[in-house]
Amino acid sequence: MQIKNSAVAFILEAEDLKTLEEIRLQFLGRSGKLTLAIKEIGKLPKSERPEVGKLANEVKKAIEETLENKISNLKSQISNLQRERIDTSAPGIKPNIGHLHPMSQILYEVVDVFKSLGYQAADGPEIETDYYNFEALNIPKDHPARDTQQTLYLDTRNSKVTPGEIILRTQTSAMQARAMEKITPPVRVIVPGKNFRYEQVDASHGFEFWQVEGFLVDKNVRLTDLFGTIDYILRKLMGQNIKLKFATTNFPFVEPGVDTYIECTVCKGKGCGFCKQQGWSEIMPAGMIHPNVLKAVGYDPRKLSGFAFAIGLSRLVTLRYQMDDLRLLTNPDLRILEQF
Ligand code: DAH
Repeated sequence: MQIKNSAVAFILEAEDLKTLEEIRLQFLGRSGKLTLAIKEIGKLPKSERPEVGKLANEVKKAIEETLENKISNLKSQISNLQRERIDTSAPGIKPNIGHLHPMSQILYEVVDVFKSLGYQAADGPEIETDYYNFEALNIPKDHPARDTQQTLYLDTRNSKVTPGEIILRTQTSAMQARAMEKITPPVRVIVPGKNFRYEQVDASHGFEFWQVEGFLVDKNVRLTDLFGTIDYILRKLMGQNIKLKFATTNFPFVEPGVDTYIECTVCKGKGCGFCKQQGWSEIMPAGMIHPNVLKAVGYDPRKLSGFAFAIGLSRLVTLRYQMDDLRLLTNPDLRILEQF
């Protein structure tokens, strides 16, 4: 009985097949403890032999069974482990690496092109005053041009600010006076940034949209300098073979005002849903800076002249990739974003 107990205890504690084999030899081997004990049975008085013999057989059977169970347990554990084994040589799963949004990609290109022409990029506040967004741009309080800029006003009721004076900027042109006040000409600045208007959102309108404003002030700046700059910039960004045309337009802060149209990249001018059957898309409004704007920042319009322009950044992206809905640019769906 003692042999059985100690054998079973050893077996249950054993953690590998080699130890189990040693235990088997130790008890059941040719000179194992049980084998020797069984040999001793012959020396016992005849009457005791059958009972002791029976007991010895039971012990042997018990040890063998425990051994077998333990061995098969261990074997199944080993095969489980082998199945779960980590194959360190297997190729890994590639994580998804993000990339810049198409708007940012094109914005960086735009900034690079302007930097190569000597422009510096400036950043302005999105929360703006009525003065910089309108007044300094030759748009006084009662000017009808304000109607085209559906303005979002900040609630200033609990402050000392006069109601209506603080707004979300409706145009990056608001940075013209801010920048010019600080710079002694010559001025060459671009201002990429977001603008906000109270608009019904649809395929071609957003309540927030990106523009890159640009302005240049120096001696003897002429309209032809503006045309040349627009032509150079747009061919760099949209390809040398694009077709452009200019038309007159009116913005209070420029005189004359110029609208730039690019031939529709989808239908090549034939007229399609994308260009609303026009064959052309408006891409870059501009003009010669109005003398009143120069005066407002303390420049002398008799000595200095300049031009200003705005690029609709979302328009640039949608034209380049022939997207027919602006809202695709703010859609976070990876199936869209992965295409750029
Ligand atoms: N700020 C104008 C708008 O958003 C666009 C514009 C027109 C900007 C003419 C200019 C310009 O700099 O010269 O409606």
